[in-house]
Amino acid sequence: MSKIGNPLCAAVLLAFVVMSLTLLVNNWHSKDRDAKFTKENLDADLAVQRSLLVYELNERRKEILPFLILSENERVWEESEHISGDPSTKSKRMNGNSENAAVSEGSIPYSGEIGCNELVEMRAVDVLGSGYTKLVVKVLLSEGQPVALKFVNDQGADMGRCLEEFKDPEGCHELVSYKLKKEILLLQKLKHRNIIKLQGHCEEEGGGGGGGRRITAILEQGSPLQMIQLLQSPWEERFRVCLGLARLLHYLSVSPLGSVVLLDFQPRQFVLVSGELKLTDLDDASVKEPECRSDQDCVLQFPLRSFNLSCSPQGLCEGHNERRNLYNAYRYFFTYLLPHQAPSALTHLVERIMNSTGELQAGINKTLEAFEEVLQLYQSGPHLVNLPPALLRDYSVMRGVRTSGDVGYRCWGSYSHQGCLLSVQSPREAALLCSSQSHCTSFSLSQQKTWTGRPLASFRTGFSHLVPDETSEVYLRKSKASGATV
Ligand SMILES: Nc1ncnc2c1ncn2[C@@H]1O[C@H](COP(=O)(O)OP(=O)(O)O)[C@@H](O)[C@H]1O
Ligand SMILES: [Mg+2]
Repeated sequence: MSKIGNPLCAAVLLAFVVMSLTLLVNNWHSKDRDAKFTKENLDADLAVQRSLLVYELNERRKEILPFLILSENERVWEESEHISGDPSTKSKRMNGNSENAAVSEGSIPYSGEIGCNELVEMRAVDVLGSGYTKLVVKVLLSEGQPVALKFVNDQGADMGRCLEEFKDPEGCHELVSYKLKKEILLLQKLKHRNIIKLQGHCEEEGGGGGGGRRITAILEQGSPLQMIQLLQSPWEERFRVCLGLARLLHYLSVSPLGSVVLLDFQPRQFVLVSGELKLTDLDDASVKEPECRSDQDCVLQFPLRSFNLSCSPQGLCEGHNERRNLYNAYRYFFTYLLPHQAPSALTHLVERIMNSTGELQAGINKTLEAFEEVLQLYQSGPHLVNLPPALLRDYSVMRGVRTSGDVGYRCWGSYSHQGCLLSVQSPREAALLCSSQSHCTSFSLSQQKTWTGRPLASFRTGFSHLVPDETSEVYLRKSKASGATV
């Protein structure tokens, strides 16, 4: 048995060893294959990612190309026709950005204002704001001039999305920078009192998160629009914002680039500069009207409303850009800012504006006309001309003095948080207001005027004494006059 058993055992053992070895070798081969496969996969993934990024970069380049070419044509024309021949200016322009090189590299033509040199000695003061794509800081230039600098926000959501998708910091910085480039190019073309003023730009190598070219827009400085604050401000200030918006939309509808639509229309894309509304975020602006085959392709859709537009024989949705801007102005601005506390004599005109924009019955031309009419009526105040002179009989007027040690009170729509400071059309209107408030015992008028040119009147319950002031006059309410010393 043992003689037979031993070779059998040996054979079984041999077979086991062979099988194990085969398995081992197979396993080793398949691991090797897997490793190779994974590496190939990774390489393929990276290649796809890279080509997608290159594709996106090309798309962005194509998007700004028309503005670049336009800029260059204008620049060449300007230089041949207009430039006085200052050699230093010319060589500076030609050095960094010779015409075709500028277009092919996608760099922004020199705009001749504040540039990189002026930023060398700047002092950063504050962060003014940040958004999906950009970061804005307030700086003081060497002579103390405050400006706002706009950069690509390397910590922003736009950059984050790109990094997640392409994992290429340098490529992503370049991709996101195209939005800022586009904005600078648009700001060079679009000049209006309700568009932030581009004071220059700086484009240099290196610096940015992933190296590459770093672009900075140098802008006039404003303050971010605070809707809550604006809602509490006097009607005249809120009207100013809405009027500014109407003027801006009118300009955009007939701009040198054609009819411009703001695709990302939100209050945070605007700032206030001394109470005047200014558009600051233009990277989502477009000058193309949507293409169409029939009217069905031209439905202007909003969350709670839709409007049917018509498809032109040229295959474009007619008036789309203008209408889209106008309805957005209605739903983000006019609804909140315009009707509340409008002067009673103007409410019918304000209501008309609300109806026509809310229903898109009129275009921007008619809307702007209506706004200008309201302004004109508000300034000339025909509804107040007939205020009886007798209104002032209740008051004794003292010219060349102002009050001191005021006991004030707060009122709605005041220009000051501490007291009651209102815009009036005339001393008569101020008297009318004071007489309608039981705690008002006097008011004064100074040289201070609002943006419409109306004087500001300050109302109070009492004061401790009067001081000489050539620019002021005080009206004391006879029935309630409080004692005062001069
Ligand atoms: N010139 C400026 N002055 C003051 N604040 C500004 C200025 N420009 C922009 N901001 C503020 O910075 C924020 C971000 O700028 P924006 O251009 O809108 O960037 P993003 O494209 O990322 O939205 C704005 O919402 C605004 O509050
Ligand atoms: Mg923005």
